[in-house]
Amino acid sequence: MEKQVFDKLVEHYKIPQEDSKKIWSMIEKIYSHEEFIKRLNSEEFPHHDTVSLGEHIVSDAIVTYLIAKKKDWDIESTRRATTIAMFHDLYELPWQNSGIKKSRLTNKHGFTHPLEGAINAATWYPSYFEDQYEEERIIDGIVHHMFPFPVRAIDGSDLELNNEEKYETLPSHIKGQIITSSTRFKIGPVSICRSRYPEGRIMSKADKIVSFGKDLTNINGITACITGHNKNLIKK
Ligand SMILES: [Fe+2]
Ligand SMILES: [Fe+2]
Repeated sequence: MEKQVFDKLVEHYKIPQEDSKKIWSMIEKIYSHEEFIKRLNSEEFPHHDTVSLGEHIVSDAIVTYLIAKKKDWDIESTRRATTIAMFHDLYELPWQNSGIKKSRLTNKHGFTHPLEGAINAATWYPSYFEDQYEEERIIDGIVHHMFPFPVRAIDGSDLELNNEEKYETLPSHIKGQIITSSTRFKIGPVSICRSRYPEGRIMSKADKIVSFGKDLTNINGITACITGHNKNLIKK
């Protein structure tokens, strides 16, 4: 039903049909989930400037696939990296002009959204996290996708996450992995390091290519990443 966004992006990136089929087979299950479909709507979930969150995520998945292909990766590693892309920004609530106040700087969207993404991904797509090998790599990739920007460490202090209640209900091995990843190279309340695994690292690279190449094309969209307020979204 909502495949148009994928089709539009495949055309934008001029992806050959054979690759487009491969990418679709890797992402279809995630894309078809109601929570994902919701995020394809730019009115409900604008992400970078006026680009919808879903469109941003699918662009990242396509670019991640292209990097893996260029590196001649096997299908399993490519699928894993593409899966990280599909999960990386599944945060709870739209962040621009949200009016949500946080009591400390490091609890704001930029620092905490990778944690919300990991929690939501594990809640909505549990089958991707059953195998320990997969779980470790996928969670670590999501948690550190913003590198060199820091991520908030789960350190026992109040994080003010918008999906805190979901974190509490996750299986302990998932919570444990989110804690392990988010506290590696911890400095104060944050962790600053890239993903331990190449799948997460190429995904993080794809995120920058997409964000600063395609999504953010004007100054209001770029400044919104820092201030959380975007003039372009104010209804005329
Ligand atoms: Fe992000
Ligand atoms: Fe992103």
